[in-house]
Amino acid sequence: MKLSVIFVLILVSRVKLERTNNKPLLKLPIGEYRIDIKKIYSCNTTRQNNIHINYYLNKTSDNSKEIKGNATLLMPFDDNLSMDVNFSIRGADGDWKNNTYIFHAEQAYTTSKNIMSKIDTSGLGFNFKYPIPVGCYISTGFNTSNLENLNYIPKEFAYGLYKLRYILTDKKHQHFGCFVVIVQLKRPSEII
Ligand SMILES: *[C@@H]1O[C@H](CO)[C@@H](O)[C@H](O)[C@H]1NC(C)=O
Ligand SMILES: *[C@@H]1O[C@H](CO)[C@@H](O)[C@H](O)[C@H]1NC(C)=O
Ligand SMILES: *[C@@H]1O[C@H](CO)[C@@H](O)[C@H](O)[C@H]1NC(C)=O
Ligand SMILES: *[C@@H]1O[C@H](CO)[C@@H](O)[C@H](O)[C@H]1NC(C)=O
Ligand SMILES: *[C@@H]1O[C@H](CO)[C@@H](O)[C@H](O)[C@H]1NC(C)=O
Ligand SMILES: *[C@@H]1O[C@H](CO)[C@@H](O)[C@H](O)[C@H]1NC(C)=O
Ligand SMILES: *[C@@H]1O[C@H](CO)[C@@H](O)[C@H](O)[C@H]1NC(C)=O
Repeated sequence: MKLSVIFVLILVSRVKLERTNNKPLLKLPIGEYRIDIKKIYSCNTTRQNNIHINYYLNKTSDNSKEIKGNATLLMPFDDNLSMDVNFSIRGADGDWKNNTYIFHAEQAYTTSKNIMSKIDTSGLGFNFKYPIPVGCYISTGFNTSNLENLNYIPKEFAYGLYKLRYILTDKKHQHFGCFVVIVQLKRPSEII
């Protein structure tokens, strides 16, 4: 999976989520939040990727969604890969402010595993055993409410609509896989 790690609003204690712009460009209220995943899709890269995340969302009831699809690895998912998560946020004018926050970590496998350690990933069709070998991992249905149990994510964050671009690269910055998650951070009282 890794892939799913992704969704991650991460604030790993060692590795800080970096703000790329010091200006308070958006005055969004901050607080405890719920995660509402709106959309998941593969990035349209011009390069041939060796890791294809073909996930999509399926609504299972009025207030729950599952991740279906597959992750196809043409190379192992291991710690030779690094991961980047670029956050864009949608402003009141409807435009995306690109790369508002950036998260970078070496050792994509270990980072992903640590973030997901409280989550049962079997619904995504794989387990975190090092490395995750070449193969096609079919998601039988992963309840997105599991993502409330990600580790290291901040307890409070600015409410709003975010686009997270999750990118896997090697040390030479070659691109191996990429997908996008659109996520809304809502107040706990709001219905998902
Ligand atoms: C990716 O780009 C191709 C060619 O430009 C286009 O046909 C396809 O629909 C795009 N896919 C997505 C997911 O945007
Ligand atoms: C979506 O979920 C519904 C309800 O569980 C199920 O009946 C349907 O087959 C699912 N669709 C897909 C494409 O998985
Ligand atoms: C994985 O997903 C892609 C894109 O939806 C699909 O074309 C492919 O057939 C799927 N692979 C398997 C083994 O289900
Ligand atoms: C990945 O790293 C391991 C050691 O951690 C090494 O044995 C392996 O050859 C590396 N693979 C590549 C493709 O660099
Ligand atoms: C992610 O953000 C960094 C820093 O702004 C930028 O250099 C990089 O091109 C971005 N990557 C993508 C895929 O948007
Ligand atoms: C933000 O990224 C999107 C998609 O990559 C691009 O279409 C748009 O022009 C970018 N916006 C700015 C202000 O750079
Ligand atoms: C997904 O998890 C939520 C919270 O645990 C639960 O209320 C919901 O029924 C689950 N959905 C399915 C289809 O199991």
